[in-house]
Amino acid sequence: MRRLDRLTWAALGAGTLLFVLLALTFHLPQRLVSLVGSRPAAHRLDGRIAPGEYQFEYQDPASKLVFAWSIVGDQLYGAVSSPDTGWVAVGFGGGGPLMYGSDIVIGDVDAHGAHVEEDWANTPTSHVPEAAVGGHDDLLGSAGLKTASGTTIEFVRPLAAHDTTQEAIVAGQTRVLMASTESSDLTAYHVEGHKAVALLNLFAGPPAPAGGGAALPDHLTDVQIMLAAWMAVLLLIGLHGVAARWAEGGAEEPADVSRERTGVAVALIVVLMLLELAALVAFAVGIALGWPVWQLGVSLAAGLLALAGIVVLYSRAFVRWEAVRVERDDGIPW
Ligand code: HEM
Repeated sequence: MRRLDRLTWAALGAGTLLFVLLALTFHLPQRLVSLVGSRPAAHRLDGRIAPGEYQFEYQDPASKLVFAWSIVGDQLYGAVSSPDTGWVAVGFGGGGPLMYGSDIVIGDVDAHGAHVEEDWANTPTSHVPEAAVGGHDDLLGSAGLKTASGTTIEFVRPLAAHDTTQEAIVAGQTRVLMASTESSDLTAYHVEGHKAVALLNLFAGPPAPAGGGAALPDHLTDVQIMLAAWMAVLLLIGLHGVAARWAEGGAEEPADVSRERTGVAVALIVVLMLLELAALVAFAVGIALGWPVWQLGVSLAAGLLALAGIVVLYSRAFVRWEAVRVERDDGIPW
């Protein structure tokens, strides 16, 4: 390959510098360190939601009820926690009104330990043990802990539903109900306690909270947009320069080097075609599963970039521009 010209070097250098600046404004180094340091711990049924124990966590801002969960194989590990010191519960699905049809895990903790059971909301305002209405208590394990600052129960249940009182946990939005009270009577109304309803995608986690905590911020600042735009322009100029030099090769280039160059181009085109396919499949799956807009955008952008790469590689490596130019000078319109 011939040496790169100064413009290409300058564009690559400046683009990389802007990338580093942009990464710093997103606190990327700190995020990477915390990502590496916070691997999900093994689930422990001990009535505590340990930091990093669960894949996902949703806290209702008004009631302060917390639902944490992980999907492990064909099971859901769940925990629900409340500032109240009576029973706590989480319910899945049910078409309503209110609680009707919800598949509930409810529990309380007393001197003898935790009592956690699976109930079914048989009316909009009551629930009964599933075993009492022809269903089965399918909990595979449970635990609970009560302290002065509240009650937490943990449980494991299958994702699949084995009877009509159960709600299968599937991809897409699931209606999740939570409630708690100061009473230990599992049939008591949560009148003086707390309640919350949320639509959660149990496979993808809760919607990103506004502000910090999300992988990407909701809004970019003007400075970040400016850095990102100039970075993209400069890197494109730089990469184009590199690709152009590489594809042009030298006029005096030996035939075997030229063949090797074509082989590399074919390999790169194959890789880009696979990337293109993966991006399009991801986009289609994302639409079907209701992924957040930024994930759809990223998969589409990756597909478009891969397509652009295929076109550039093909035209650089296979179109004989020298012949085209000569033919054009000869007046052959093609
Ligand atoms: C026998 C016990 C229960 C009784 C008598 C009861 C009663 C009621 C009543 C009267 C309402 C409507 C008024 C209000 O919003 O406060 C309601 C709503 C609600 N309950 Fe219960 N409840 C019971 C247990 C539970 C349990 C175990 C859960 C948790 C899974 C729960 C979750 C909710 C939620 C989330 C709402 C609000 C629903 C909505 O706004 O769409 N309840 N309940």
